[in-house]
Amino acid sequence: RGTPALQVIELTDVVDWWPVLGASSEKYSRGVVGVATGSATYPGAAVLSVAGALAGPTGLVRYAGSAKGEVLHQHPSVIATGRVADAGRVQAWVCGSGLGTGEDSAAELRAVLAAPVPVVLDADALTLLVDGKLAGRLRGRDAPIVVTPHDREYARLCGEMPGEDRVAAALRLAAWMNAVVLLKGARTVIGTPDGRAYSNPTGTPALATGGTGDVLAGLLGSLLAAGLAPERAAGAAAYLHGLAGREAARGGPVTAPDVATALRPVLARLG
Ligand code: APR
Ligand code: MG
Repeated sequence: RGTPALQVIELTDVVDWWPVLGASSEKYSRGVVGVATGSATYPGAAVLSVAGALAGPTGLVRYAGSAKGEVLHQHPSVIATGRVADAGRVQAWVCGSGLGTGEDSAAELRAVLAAPVPVVLDADALTLLVDGKLAGRLRGRDAPIVVTPHDREYARLCGEMPGEDRVAAALRLAAWMNAVVLLKGARTVIGTPDGRAYSNPTGTPALATGGTGDVLAGLLGSLLAAGLAPERAAGAAAYLHGLAGREAARGGPVTAPDVATALRPVLARLG
């Protein structure tokens, strides 16, 4: 087919990639993740992405945005500010879920992109890239970018749907944006700018419910802040998110907060 080697992610890969929590670890060496998501209209997206970030291996989550009150109420361990510029030191940013697409949101996205750290761009951040015609201008950025479009977000970025060959589709967008692409869907695949591709085998239709994508973005940010290479962070996040969806489904119909909660037992079994 001309598609390069495709690695199906396995549990042993995730275990290999997982950061070791040493006896001398402290919260800053474990990584600090910044979350710039949610809005007055969509505070739930902030709560869910923070829940995903808190479930990961990082030591500290900072939230910057207008859903501060809701985030702190649900997650008192978070340090919250109003704006990205005031957040303090962060080792990876998650931006976009429920952020809104107005001028203020665009300013926050620009602040995130100006930070010299890895970033996850999801949902409204992707819309802002398209509206601002910025998607092709991420090439100059040194720190890694992971974008997490579902099919319609992909179509907005690329001008066409992913089509049958999702791996080729992810690789096309990855090369164009110079970003790792985590193309979400019933079959989630990951492509890198240099042409490597991964496929996640753990997906479950239990995840097809509003807000699970926000949990995934937060978890992914946590793995980037912990120092994983972007394609490994994306692969591990997709794999564990799928397992958490399956775990949550054991208790009946799944909502997005259930997926965040189920990440804990799933991660505990990683050893
Ligand atoms: N099988 C496996 N995984 C699935 C399936 C499926 N059939 N359907 C969805 N998923 C997974 C995706 O791979 C992804 O990880 O669920 C997650 C859904 O994420 P998003 O598509 O980003 O949806 P989310 O953002 O959580 O939904 C909130 O955003 O774009 C809007 O209209 C959309 O109402 C939706 C809202
Ligand atoms: Mg989404």
